[in-house]
Amino acid sequence: MNTLWIEGSPKGDDALSSQLAEAFLEGTRYQRFSVWDEDLLRFGHDAAVAKFAPLFGESVTAQQQDIWQQVLDEIERVRSFDRLVISSPMWNWHIPHALKAWIDIIVQPIASFTLDAGGRHVGTLGDGKPVQLILTRSSAYDGRHPELNDFQRPYLEYVFGMLGYRVQTLVIEPTTRWTPEERAQMRTEAIELARRAGHHH
Ligand SMILES: Cc1cc2nc3c(=O)[nH]c(=O)nc-3n(C[C@H](O)[C@H](O)[C@H](O)COP(=O)(O)O)c2cc1C
Repeated sequence: MNTLWIEGSPKGDDALSSQLAEAFLEGTRYQRFSVWDEDLLRFGHDAAVAKFAPLFGESVTAQQQDIWQQVLDEIERVRSFDRLVISSPMWNWHIPHALKAWIDIIVQPIASFTLDAGGRHVGTLGDGKPVQLILTRSSAYDGRHPELNDFQRPYLEYVFGMLGYRVQTLVIEPTTRWTPEERAQMRTEAIELARRAGHHH
């Protein structure tokens, strides 16, 4: 099984979510891909125009066509893996913008999802393959603080479910502990949890 690990934290090896993903993936074959990679395609004006041009019967420029090819290539790269692992911190109750920017590339009608006769979304990218979400956040979103809203977990579960993946989620929270000892203990326990979750797959 070949796994694509999509790394959502810019902190690299210092990120708890990245350390958890490495523990989860221990002993398996995977490719690490940071959404913070500066070479990542920027989905801007030309891509946004190219996305809707065929639906409206409009022609596209050579540059727009080229950008669109890069979008399709990225979708095919993702499709070539048997499994996805997505590690991400919560940023302002949602996901970091770089992860959202990458999702804006891979979620495309026809190329990664379609609609059935009833107008419902049918994911064609996931095709029943697994995606493991590994999520960190400072606060607790388990009902202890009902005033806190979590858009990180439901958003990722919705999008990847919609793309046709079988979604599993590991949440580590709250990650902010006030003493170095508490932080070290939280990290050790969380990494062990991720390692065990990985070995069950
Ligand atoms: C820009 C930014 C925004 C954040 N926003 C939230 C937030 O809305 N809620 C929360 O619980 N934690 C928030 N955090 C804290 C991180 O989610 C938390 O520290 C997490 O454990 C970091 O994971 P990482 O080490 O994998 O990057 C934020 C952190 C940063 C850097």
